Amino acid sequence: MFKTLKNTDIKNKRVVLRCDLNVPIKDGFILDDSKIKASLETINYLIDNNCKIIILSHLGKVKTPADKAKNSLEPVYNRLRELLKREIYFSRETRAVNLYMQVENMLPKDVLLLENTRFEDLNGNLESGCDPQLSMYWASLCDVFVMDAFGTSHRKHASTYGISKYVPSCIGFLVEKELIALDKFIINGKRPLTIVMGGAKIEDKISLIEKFLDKCDHLLLTGGIANTFLKVLNINVGASLYSKNPEILEKVKNILLNYREKIMLPLDVVVANTYDKNYIKYKRLNELDADDIIYDCGNKTIERYKSIIEESETIFVNGTMGRYEDLRFANGTKEFLNMLANSNKILVAGGGDSVSAINNFGFKDSFTYLSSGGGATLEYLTTNNLPGLEGIDEDDEVETLDL
Ligand code: 3PG
Repeated sequence: MFKTLKNTDIKNKRVVLRCDLNVPIKDGFILDDSKIKASLETINYLIDNNCKIIILSHLGKVKTPADKAKNSLEPVYNRLRELLKREIYFSRETRAVNLYMQVENMLPKDVLLLENTRFEDLNGNLESGCDPQLSMYWASLCDVFVMDAFGTSHRKHASTYGISKYVPSCIGFLVEKELIALDKFIINGKRPLTIVMGGAKIEDKISLIEKFLDKCDHLLLTGGIANTFLKVLNINVGASLYSKNPEILEKVKNILLNYREKIMLPLDVVVANTYDKNYIKYKRLNELDADDIIYDCGNKTIERYKSIIEESETIFVNGTMGRYEDLRFANGTKEFLNMLANSNKILVAGGGDSVSAINNFGFKDSFTYLSSGGGATLEYLTTNNLPGLEGIDEDDEVETLDL
């Protein structure tokens, strides 16, 4: 059992709150703010309890200086300010002497959002590698740590698990709500269970697939993950995104050997290329040219997937059919969501892109539950455990801070 916010003495305390504010952003604009909205209940509760609130979140992956330049949390800061309807502060530093002083000068009810925690990954993977010094540093900013980043609770990072080792910690309202809903609809939900998975985080997701295939009845693949499977099956995917990592390709081979009958792959696609903006073609999979890039799936794929949905009772959606944010390639995603909306099944979606597409195309009310976590939900389904929450329990013993 996890220690909850309601069972924690946080009145007038300095709180570090880990949220998952990793929202889809294009050209500086937030495409979907559901994760920010989902964090408000906890933030407002901490404000009402006169806390000084320091918010941490990651945004995207930060492996190069170019990633750093495009993954600032500043657009999130602006939106959070609007949603909270109050002035809040933003620190461009993730750790510095200045930051200590800024925290020192905070007043009760002040909210300070720090820059993307993964900026620390540029200095030797400190955030993602759960560096003890970094964890201790963030822990030293607060009296209590509140972990409310459900979407990243499958990761043992410095800002999730790391901090909780060094200060009294609890889960926030969002994590609590997500666990209750996922227990009900996914873990103890009706079977057969079908998982729909797409997107560009190929390597992360293939490692997850390996683990959860025993727990689901069907797996419908799209996007870069499907392309990697097609490639291993010797099907030409042109210049589309797929994993070239030999370890990943070996894993896919094994998955196909052991679970081929559970896995469905696209039959037809919509392609474009990089040099002719008027070139957008519908193709069967055996018709692709070397420079074709798959951006959407076709109607035959939707029909095939529909037959599986009809046999299922619960569907978990983690990914879209293609590049839905570009209207030229949105048809597959729209048709698929429309088919799900008319299916009368238990529909759960999780992960930034799926939830964003569902909201943008107006299918929100057809879904039984929208989760803020994709990878986290799949990890929980597979292992019944979330590594990022392992440092939080009812007894809550902490190690001594040693900076
Ligand atoms: C998500 O969007 O799935 C979460 O924010 C986790 O992001 P990550 O896969 O980059 O850790």
